[in-house]
Amino acid sequence: MLILLENNQTTITEFILLGFGNLHGLQILLFVTFLAIYLITVSGNILILITVSLSRGLHTPMYFFLLNFSFLEIWYTTSVVPKMLKTLLKVREAISFSGCITQFYFFGSMAVVECYLLAVMSYDRYLAICNPLRYTTIMNIKVCFQMAAGSWISGFLTPIVTIVLTFRLPFCASNEIDHFFCDLSPIIKLSCADPHIAEMTTFILASMVTMVPFLLTLASYAKIILTVLRIPSAKGKQKAFSTCSSHLIVVTLFYVTLGTVYAAPSAKQSPILNKLFSLLYTVITPMFNPMIYSLRNKDVKEALWKLIYKEPYCPCMATTVEPEAAYKGTPIEVAIDQ
Ligand SMILES: *[C@@H]1O[C@H](CO)[C@@H](O)[C@H](O)[C@H]1NC(C)=O
Repeated sequence: MLILLENNQTTITEFILLGFGNLHGLQILLFVTFLAIYLITVSGNILILITVSLSRGLHTPMYFFLLNFSFLEIWYTTSVVPKMLKTLLKVREAISFSGCITQFYFFGSMAVVECYLLAVMSYDRYLAICNPLRYTTIMNIKVCFQMAAGSWISGFLTPIVTIVLTFRLPFCASNEIDHFFCDLSPIIKLSCADPHIAEMTTFILASMVTMVPFLLTLASYAKIILTVLRIPSAKGKQKAFSTCSSHLIVVTLFYVTLGTVYAAPSAKQSPILNKLFSLLYTVITPMFNPMIYSLRNKDVKEALWKLIYKEPYCPCMATTVEPEAAYKGTPIEVAIDQ
């Protein structure tokens, strides 16, 4: 990769991140807001990491993936936010050419890992709900580990092609990136060569890469919903669905925000819209994910309660389940409980 870059007569050694441009004195307010969001995101995800690792009751495939997902979210948001905070304090924040490549590489990798992990997590829910009798044999520790590792490996391999294609473009006009991090489309815009080939290739690659996990996720949820609808009792329905509703919200948030930026051409045209939507998926959704998982998930809440108060259960939630109801149900309910 480095050789390819050197062969090109790049005249630019650094980029300038313009960030949000002239904010007329709002910088400090935004800085404090985004810093607070970032700290909440990181500590929320760390809290999930600690809760899941320390609670024996949560040592199941679903929580193994949640643990991995929270770990990923910390790095995902960290690849963008600290530098973005610096652009708020300085009007022209410089980033070296290699720094820019590195930032895009990490951000791109993490986004792809996220797509794959979300798909793996929905496949796990699909097996638990639609194939409960074989769930524990299929989803053993080794398979869980391999699936998570596969997501990370695909994530780190995928952005390489895009990076080679983009950063080989000749840059000669300007080095000012009208964005708060080194994202692809603002960089491609700076190239003085015809950017269409890089744009098209990137678009096709990005669609192919995200399409596979997206369709897998969609198929898993289609199957889950059909199965849940066929459960006769209302209580069984609710119970089966409650284990995947948090995850469904997270998946929807992720694909809707990402899809808006990468699929809507108008967002790419307007730097302001692009920045707003990018804020959504780099700063806002990573903050909501731990909240959705911990506030909506009874098991996580109970585990957290036990860790803090060393009490067997949270009295405020005692009304939601009868203790021995769990293992009396259909195989579906038994598998979900594991
Ligand atoms: C996430 O999964 C990968 C691959 O299985 C593993 O190497 C890594 O330790 C996991 N991370 C956490 C925090 O569990």
